[in-house]
Amino acid sequence: MTLAEIEQILQRSVDQALSALGAATTADELEHSRVHYLGQKGFLTQAKKSVGQLATVDDKKQAGKLVNEADARLRKAYDDHKERIEAALREAELAERWDVTLPGRRSLRGKRHPLTMTADDILDVLGSLGFMRAEGPEIEHDWYNFEALNMPREHPARDMQDTFYIDDDVVLRTHTSPVQVRAMLALARPPIRVACYGRVYRNDHDITHSPMFHQVEGLYVDETVTFGDLKGTLQVFVERIFGARSKVRLRPSFFPFTEPSVEVDLSCFSCGGSGSGGAALGDDGRCRLCKATGWIEIMGAGMVDPEVLRFGGLDPDKLTGFAFGIGVERVAMLRWGVPDIRLFFENDRRFLQQF
Ligand code: DAH
Repeated sequence: MTLAEIEQILQRSVDQALSALGAATTADELEHSRVHYLGQKGFLTQAKKSVGQLATVDDKKQAGKLVNEADARLRKAYDDHKERIEAALREAELAERWDVTLPGRRSLRGKRHPLTMTADDILDVLGSLGFMRAEGPEIEHDWYNFEALNMPREHPARDMQDTFYIDDDVVLRTHTSPVQVRAMLALARPPIRVACYGRVYRNDHDITHSPMFHQVEGLYVDETVTFGDLKGTLQVFVERIFGARSKVRLRPSFFPFTEPSVEVDLSCFSCGGSGSGGAALGDDGRCRLCKATGWIEIMGAGMVDPEVLRFGGLDPDKLTGFAFGIGVERVAMLRWGVPDIRLFFENDRRFLQQF
């Protein structure tokens, strides 16, 4: 071969090889072209071999230079294109598995249920007033749930609580008041100052009543506990739960286990007790939350009936006490304006997220 021939081959083949390498779309195609043009039997190898057979040193030099240049160009073209194909492959794999432009999905964070929040707040206030936690069973003896609370069998007051009976002697507790008796019997010595939070059950359901709901019960028995102590405790309680401007009003009532008994009213926090205006304004300008009375009923309370102290193993001639029971759902509904008690138990995140 002559120098001119080598030059010719290079000219023709380099362009061909460049376009073949550039046209490869997969690593396999590229490798195929590489072997074809740059491999053992490719033109470049042939050209290299031919260089040694040239007649003059000058020709060898010149041809060698041309061959090396061609070699370098082709190898660079090969490397660049290989890089490109690999990058495209990575892209394609990524696009197949991940769409990196999608917004991230946050993991859900749990939090306390609104009823738990409400109960915790109530228990915190009572705890700061020296009430310690007490507990009792949800499946309760008739004796604790009724009899020891001054409601013997056939007592008409039992009708007020639509009771689920397990059998003649065992009920689902209808209130947390049986824990009063349990606490008196267990602690035995005054001062007895306990708060009990828990589930209670009644056969009753509508938008403000659920067959299972929650109460917090408070009991304070000591040598000199007075009705004034009850009122003061309730006043502090409503201020801390419903705001500093809240007031309590006590209305005469009846519970078999307290004497005297009261219904505890809270000054309406929506209209400020005026009965008109406020956030819960009706079309007629009257407050809907308190039905324009300025007061909202929130719990039952009273001085522990001497008979109940006796059932609790305490001496009613030496000791007095007060007690109160509050519905947790009712407080939560008032506080946040929840219109339907069932929302608390449906576990719908759209509802629960709001607290
Ligand atoms: N146990 C009563 C109920 O569920 C509420 C109650 C009223 C509790 C007066 C008390 C109390 O401790 O003194 O209806």
